[in-house]
Amino acid sequence: MARAKGSSVSGPDSGDRAVDVALKLAEELFGFGSSGATPGWVRDRVRRYLEHQSYRSGLSMNAVARELLKDKTAVEQIVTSLRVGETRFYRDGAQWEVIERQLEKLFPADVELAVLSAGCSTGEEAYTMGMLLTAARRRFRVLGVDRSAEAIAVAREATYGREAARDIPPAWVERFCDEQNGRLRVGLLVRNAVEFEECDLVKRVPQGPFHIILFKNVLLYLTTQAGEQVATRLANELEDGGLLFSAASEVLRLRSMGLEPFRLAQTVTALRPPKRRP
Ligand SMILES: C[S@@+](CC[C@H](N)C(=O)[O-])C[C@H]1O[C@@H](n2cnc3c(N)ncnc32)[C@H](O)[C@@H]1O
Repeated sequence: MARAKGSSVSGPDSGDRAVDVALKLAEELFGFGSSGATPGWVRDRVRRYLEHQSYRSGLSMNAVARELLKDKTAVEQIVTSLRVGETRFYRDGAQWEVIERQLEKLFPADVELAVLSAGCSTGEEAYTMGMLLTAARRRFRVLGVDRSAEAIAVAREATYGREAARDIPPAWVERFCDEQNGRLRVGLLVRNAVEFEECDLVKRVPQGPFHIILFKNVLLYLTTQAGEQVATRLANELEDGGLLFSAASEVLRLRSMGLEPFRLAQTVTALRPPKRRP
């Protein structure tokens, strides 16, 4: 039986202790951990798992954590979900700055923008885009899709640990987020324009046309063949003049799949479908 060394799960049922126990087990059994303080999104996700199990079983969260001591498979499930969905608000700041600066040049002010966050995880990327476009006074819709039902549920809730605000421009936090019980909730102004849907991109990609597609840090989870298929299908859903954004480390791979680079700044390259030859 697995034991979290020195862990106790008795005491107040705030959930914090239960989260600590689960994280300690994840570290002891599967080497999951970070060199510094545990990021808030990790604690959030573990808490949600425990809450969900608690709701299903009728046990307290501490009791659910105690059960984990005997259930290595459940701990492994938690670790897998933690390793898969890492994301954060305003990830790759330079890219967001360039999009903000060049938005009007790329897409005239009167155009209502359609944006897809493909592989949106828990929603931070889609909401970052929502904040950016609201700040730019644009009319828009953002659709976030992910194959993980759990991630989509979190995205719809739009509530994050306080430290999620760390990288968001402070003026946006002030304007677009509300404080709720020490946590951060994306406000209605942005939430109303951002939707989420469960979708396995290997099976289907959402129908466009989209002006911007964010397809970042997802290729990693797809085979070469599936990745190529998904990237090509997504590119086909771009509006004329539309752009696909990946993580910087993925640009080369997407180029090798036939997408054309479009350099927006020294360190920021977007992609678009190959020119259609007459
Ligand atoms: C590392 S997160 C990236 C989140 C966000 N795009 C970012 O860059 O911060 C990768 C996400 O891709 C999702 N994903 C992996 N394969 C997928 C698929 N076939 N269809 C939809 N989503 C997928 C995972 O569930 C996970 O939430």
